[in-house]
Amino acid sequence: MTKTITGFSKLSKEEKIDWLVKTFFTDTESAKSTLKQYSNSDKKLQELHDDFIENTISNYYLPYGVAPNFVINGKEYVVPMVTEESSVVAAASLVAKFWSTRGGFKAEVISTKKIGQVHFMFDGDFEDLEDYFDTSKKRLFEVTEVITKNMRKRGGGILDIELRNKTSELKNYYQLHVTFDTQDSMGANFINSCLESIANEFRNDKIQVVMSILSNYVPECLVRAEVSCKVEELYIENPEMHAQKFIQAVQIANVEPHRAVTHNKGIMNGIDAVVLATGNDFRAVESGAHAYASRSGVYRSLTNCEIKDGVFKFWIEIPLALGTVGGLTALHPLAKLSLQLLQNPSAKELMMIVAVAGLAQNFAALRALTTTGIQHGHMKMHLSNIIKQLGASESETVYLMNHFTDKQVSHSAVVEEFEKLRK
Ligand code: MEV
Repeated sequence: MTKTITGFSKLSKEEKIDWLVKTFFTDTESAKSTLKQYSNSDKKLQELHDDFIENTISNYYLPYGVAPNFVINGKEYVVPMVTEESSVVAAASLVAKFWSTRGGFKAEVISTKKIGQVHFMFDGDFEDLEDYFDTSKKRLFEVTEVITKNMRKRGGGILDIELRNKTSELKNYYQLHVTFDTQDSMGANFINSCLESIANEFRNDKIQVVMSILSNYVPECLVRAEVSCKVEELYIENPEMHAQKFIQAVQIANVEPHRAVTHNKGIMNGIDAVVLATGNDFRAVESGAHAYASRSGVYRSLTNCEIKDGVFKFWIEIPLALGTVGGLTALHPLAKLSLQLLQNPSAKELMMIVAVAGLAQNFAALRALTTTGIQHGHMKMHLSNIIKQLGASESETVYLMNHFTDKQVSHSAVVEEFEKLRK
């Protein structure tokens, strides 16, 4: 039977599901019931989700957790996190508590500039192009005025339009490099609409516009977060030695890309979870963060660490284009709830919270890796998941958790012990 179809998008949801289960599943009823199980019985809510994307046939849930006890610039937060990875929320909560008694996190937004570009080809004299740009520039601002009106009222808008000559990298290639301030919105639609208006205006016989699009590389939409304390407050046993190992772990991630990627992945565990919970675009944040980590030409750590005069300082600097108004933040009830939980932050405040979540996650990972190892905590979680799957009672759970404190955890070992116990 053919597995291709024309006019799929025009089918009703039921018809889509019928075609899919009939074509790809042997147990059609079970496939249908799984899809149905994850559909929301609240019709309105389901319709809202159906409309986010195209060809929606169900929902895909991820757990929504919270990490309490974050103190950032003296203000207390409970941070919402959406992730499927165990230990991420636990690590955030532990680290938040740890630093809450050591002065909390300090964070600052360094800059909030966003970028968009009109990429075009011009087969002529650069000076002619410059003249054309100089005479057009004012008009380029004017044609976007309808779009920028509201944004300008809120203090944002187009900051500048620059002509950039890129012909040394690609023959005939130039761009209009446009910078924006989008205030509390992430601004993707706003930027793209402005760029398309600019591109429509910036045309003549010799200019061939290739494309107009925002850039997710926003090195000037930058936030910094840090923690610091006396070295002796960092660890109970042998703080000097442990702090040194911690610093070495960061140094390794600064010189060794294989380690840096994993190191930064751990940071993104925290960042993405808050970005998702607040309805922001985690793909944009991911690509921008990794590009920033490579800005020296080598992929490096997004965090840094030092010990000076007996004080341990650990910080992150990361570009984050986030919004607290518009987009999904206005549409998704849980995104809205997350922002309320965060006491309705501005985009700048959210940048600080998200950077802190990344720093906290990296602190937890490095502390574990340079002391007990990461598997210690993971295996405890893994063990608890296996025990749950086995349907163990409360007393059986206590027994199994105790039994495996000093033993290697594997699925078969837990099953074996469980069966022994039941016998
Ligand atoms: C796992 O999701 C993240 C870690 O691998 C991060 C790290 O190694 O730093 C634990």
